[in-house]
Amino acid sequence: MFQKIGNIKICIEKDYEAMSLRAADIFADCVAQNSNGAYGFATGSTPVGMYKALVEKYKNGKLDFSQITTFNLDEYYPIKGDHDQSYRYFMEQNLFNHVNLDKSKINLLNGQAEDTILECKAYDHKIGIAGGITLQILGIGTNGHIGFNEPNDYFSGKTGIVDLTENTINDNARFFESRAQVPCQALSMGIGSIMSAKEILLLAAGANKSKIIADMLLGRVMPQVPASILQFHQHVTVVLDTPAAEDIRLMLGYQ
Ligand code: GLP
Repeated sequence: MFQKIGNIKICIEKDYEAMSLRAADIFADCVAQNSNGAYGFATGSTPVGMYKALVEKYKNGKLDFSQITTFNLDEYYPIKGDHDQSYRYFMEQNLFNHVNLDKSKINLLNGQAEDTILECKAYDHKIGIAGGITLQILGIGTNGHIGFNEPNDYFSGKTGIVDLTENTINDNARFFESRAQVPCQALSMGIGSIMSAKEILLLAAGANKSKIIADMLLGRVMPQVPASILQFHQHVTVVLDTPAAEDIRLMLGYQ
């Protein structure tokens, strides 16, 4: 069921639903072992099914969120918290409003912060106070970004303000009324912050992720493919649906 490429555990599931259930199981097992840990959440279309499965687990009495602390990876900038494309709104709709999280333990970057440097520094400080991230959930952009850490000629360190690439603005325009409404910047945990997580769970679904998944797992580690840095982390699991695994199947001869 699990295969390994270097340090990274790979799990290929037959479809999106199976990928989502597998990810929810990994998350729930981690919470069972670290009930007061800090959990890093991601947004985007990919983890929606996993969040749905987590809500189900909570409703069935199989998952307790009451002691955990949460940190979201990123947020558009500028954006109002109640904008239907803000990541705050996404998390409220998909998870926070449906489970027994302690509201005082939910942390999100403020897409309206006046002083973004202070906002990002304070965020890293809060992650430190929480003892670091126990498990970080990630999606991946078609250009290899994780969080909003775009391809660059260096790996970013801590949380900061970033410019979005044309590729990401185009990819994410489908969620907005028009492309012009997609914010051009974001606040994002840095690659360094992500790499400090004790465990990482990356999800990818769909044929449009297949090439970048192969680049991430089998290509050179380089900042032009930000997710490739995960090859250097000791505890990463990648859960894929079959279409997202197509390129690695062809390259490695997986069945
Ligand atoms: C956004 C988010 C990422 C996410 C990526 C992929 O830009 N900042 O955290 O992983 O998009 O999104 P999707 O899952 O919709 O493909």
